[in-house]
Amino acid sequence: MCGIVGYIGSKRATDILVGGLKRLEYRGYDSAGLAILHEGELKLRKVLGKLRVMEQSVEEEPIEGTVGIGHTRWATHGRPSVRNAHPHTDSSGRIALVHNGIIENYVELKTELQAEGVEFVSDTDTEVIAHLVGKYYKGDIAAAVREACARLEGAYAIAVVCRDEPDRLVAARLFSPLIVGLGDGENFIGSDIPAILDRTRDVYILDDGDMAILTREGIELCRVTGEPVRHEVYHVDWDAGAAEKGGYKHFMLKEINEQPTAFRNAMRGRIREGSSEIELPELSLTDEQLLGFRRGFVTACGTAYYAGLVGKFLLENLARLPVDSDLASEYRYRNPIIHKDQLTITVSQSGETADTLAALRMAREQGSHTLSIVNAVGSSIARDSDDVLYINAGPEIGVASTKAYSCQSLVLAMFALHMAKVRKTISKERYAQLVDELKQLPDKAQRILDDVSRIQEASAKYGQYNNFLYLGRGANLPSAYEGALKLKEISYIHAEGYAAGEMKHGPIALIEPACPTVAPAVRGAVYEKIVSNLQEVRARDGQIIAVAFEGDTDIERHADFVLRVPECDELLSPILVALPLQLFAYYCADARGCDVDQPRNLAKSVTVE
Ligand code: G6P
Repeated sequence: MCGIVGYIGSKRATDILVGGLKRLEYRGYDSAGLAILHEGELKLRKVLGKLRVMEQSVEEEPIEGTVGIGHTRWATHGRPSVRNAHPHTDSSGRIALVHNGIIENYVELKTELQAEGVEFVSDTDTEVIAHLVGKYYKGDIAAAVREACARLEGAYAIAVVCRDEPDRLVAARLFSPLIVGLGDGENFIGSDIPAILDRTRDVYILDDGDMAILTREGIELCRVTGEPVRHEVYHVDWDAGAAEKGGYKHFMLKEINEQPTAFRNAMRGRIREGSSEIELPELSLTDEQLLGFRRGFVTACGTAYYAGLVGKFLLENLARLPVDSDLASEYRYRNPIIHKDQLTITVSQSGETADTLAALRMAREQGSHTLSIVNAVGSSIARDSDDVLYINAGPEIGVASTKAYSCQSLVLAMFALHMAKVRKTISKERYAQLVDELKQLPDKAQRILDDVSRIQEASAKYGQYNNFLYLGRGANLPSAYEGALKLKEISYIHAEGYAAGEMKHGPIALIEPACPTVAPAVRGAVYEKIVSNLQEVRARDGQIIAVAFEGDTDIERHADFVLRVPECDELLSPILVALPLQLFAYYCADARGCDVDQPRNLAKSVTVE
């Protein structure tokens, strides 16, 4: 976790660094820090709390200087405190360093350094890197960083400045993301592109084991081992404004409302105007390979996992591929049986989730073809996969994932249809019908968003309860899981997502008037089944909020409150059902005064186990 930025140029560094950190705050936000070089001095500023505390601090007491590094922290080693906030310095006080990642051998290194007389002032793993760089420093900061990196095990993206070399900034990465931005007379580093997008559109995306030495005039790229490397300049063609709130009260609300556009972007170039064909030209997978897979496996974390479950249902139903699934944090450690004829699908918004990345690498090492469904371009998961389908949802800043979830489900639906066609498990008519349905999703999503009054009413009526049950079946079982996750993560209301058919085996004991049940109940294969589950809830005085198709009047008899989505094929309905569930959670959380975009204890990108 954590976000890092760096600047070398002629402008006031604090303005650029704090601006960059604000856009990285989604990576963690328990403390922040800056190190600025100015007139032979290294100036440090550290604060506890969110970035606005830092903003206030530099406003009240500005720091001059045109070279510096910054950090926003999400604690892993050592609790949130000013003492543990980055940047960390070496014993001489001339070297400052920011770090994102975890150093696994830090205890050994710390013991070694302590034996040499080094005194530690924080509880962090990061401080050992600062002292190591200090230990190896003999007048060349790049050489010292190189030597220090050779000693590190684990994951890092670091940026380093040295008081004695005020015209250089050094950065390096291993298993944590890092990009370098190219400016005119100035250069930047950041944990991701949005951090520096208001300053430059030309970036280098560093690989694991890369190092960058920045001056005002240029950037030298090399491996941490010393050999030079070359990278193409990646020109960012999306808008910095896309990462701002755009008039909405919260990023989450903005991102929910972006879904119609995001759906269009996810389908752009894949389903052409006037065509009923899905084209996925970026896939390296040949028809022969698609025919050869005997099984599929979906693995991911959090919301992305639930999107993966939507995909599993679609792949089994449409492409008749048996698909199993597991959370990445379980999969990677349970010594799974991975066959060469298994297609492993990982799903990730950030493309940096540590467990998902490790599960992907494990599957790949064991000979499985890997496909990732990712939002963040150039991220580690995308780059480590044999194939990647980007969801093209644009930056997602709100910690609770919304548009990424629905777009991941949408892209998985396109892939499932593509595979079904190649495997001839779908009729031409059914294929064309579903492609046509996909094309209608943006307008249907817009219809939901155009009138949210019923959803607001529901949250006003039920939002004061402290326990919710979410029940789902079939295609919409993942919707129940995801709906419950959304509610609990942003409103802190306890909510449990459960298979409706399992209710009788336990959760039914929870039913009482003060524990409402939310249930997607769209017409389709299991409609009658879920309706009878709702009756069981009713019989025990439970209150029911159903999500049903427009025009389904029967449902009124079985529910206390009905939220509507436009009618669509049941298989694709999770994509639309997500919207009222996201909005219901949003309005409940907002009414409770919760910090919707940055819920307590959570981070957007979990780059540690
Ligand atoms: C964190 C985020 C979730 C996200 C999960 C997986 O928990 O708060 O919103 O679903 O990580 O992240 P990924 O970037 O891999 O989708």
